[in-house]
Amino acid sequence: MQLTINGQAQDLGDLDPEMPLLWALRDILGLVGTKYGCGVAQCGACTVWLDDNPVRSCQLTVGALAGRRITTIEGLGQDELHPVQRAWVEHDVAQCGYCQAGQIMSAAALLKRDPSPSMAAIESAMAGNLCRCGTYTRIVAAVQSAAQSLAQIDCYEVGESAQAAGDRGGAAV
Ligand code: FES
Ligand code: FES
Repeated sequence: MQLTINGQAQDLGDLDPEMPLLWALRDILGLVGTKYGCGVAQCGACTVWLDDNPVRSCQLTVGALAGRRITTIEGLGQDELHPVQRAWVEHDVAQCGYCQAGQIMSAAALLKRDPSPSMAAIESAMAGNLCRCGTYTRIVAAVQSAAQSLAQIDCYEVGESAQAAGDRGGAAV
């Protein structure tokens, strides 16, 4: 079975097509940035992109993903940090860090489809990503900061960086 992950074709061998994508990412491919939280689509810790949309990888089976593009936190900023990741660092968002990959993937997907989101749009987009450490205020500030950065730099090729890096044979971080 082959999947396209972070711009690279990955041969997953003779995998059970019913295996959740999250398992394949972490246990087969070693992409452990994506986290297991609840396993029932309630926490957002496992968020990755399917094509350009944030999805819960604990709920997708690998057999349903042929021909689709999957982007994980490792593929978001391969050559340099994605603007959302930079904003996360600037705002010192993470506390324990467990939820943060999922938060960043949801935030980056939001800014990809809505580069200047309202507060309501931010809250709506991030509502499915829970943080037990309560970093929500810093998350909103970081999303707003990233939106400002993106308004200054036409960098939404960054969103395609996984594909570009894959074309160059770049490795996931
Ligand atoms: S582990 Fe997938 S939503 Fe919680
Ligand atoms: S930073 Fe700890 S759960 Fe979000």
